Amino acid sequence: MKEKWKAAVVTLSDKGYAGDRQDKSGPLICDIITKSGYEVIERVLLPDDEEEIKKCLCKLCDDKKADIVFTTGGTGFSPRDCAPEAALAVATRNAPGIAEAMRLASLAVTPRAMLSRGVSVIRNQTLIITLPGSPKAAKENLEAVLPALDHGLAILTGKTGECGKDPEPR
Ligand code: MTE
Repeated sequence: MKEKWKAAVVTLSDKGYAGDRQDKSGPLICDIITKSGYEVIERVLLPDDEEEIKKCLCKLCDDKKADIVFTTGGTGFSPRDCAPEAALAVATRNAPGIAEAMRLASLAVTPRAMLSRGVSVIRNQTLIITLPGSPKAAKENLEAVLPALDHGLAILTGKTGECGKDPEPR
């Protein structure tokens, strides 16, 4: 049986945090991953503040023991965008293939995909993926990598060591 991975979803937006913009990407990500069998254990809305984001990521990984944390927003070029920096700062290992796959798939949709500086990293036994902020971009990026995540999480958490055992996603 497929594992029910524990996921946390963190929306990063100064405007959302101030109540000036409705967070549509956080709920959309929750909806997509719930339908894929994940359990959303925590949802957070934060401003684009690197220290706050780092603190939150550490709490979700170390205390809440999330298997995976998705952030949305703050991956672009705006001076306040710092999701990649926060994720890299708390990472114990890099896992660049996921971010590479997101950009590769997204470039088929829009050349602006190259403007996302999103990263994918590991903090101990938690995978952290920084998605872009718009609902459209978050969905497209997430759906590009979702089929491979179950196997990655199974290896990361020691539930499997064998790549040949799980059927490959199409
Ligand atoms: N990726 C996909 N698949 N679709 C998109 O529409 N938008 C891009 C990019 N990645 C986009 C995308 C744009 S316009 C920007 S500026 C960056 O993501 C960064 O977004 P963020 O600052 O909201 O994180």
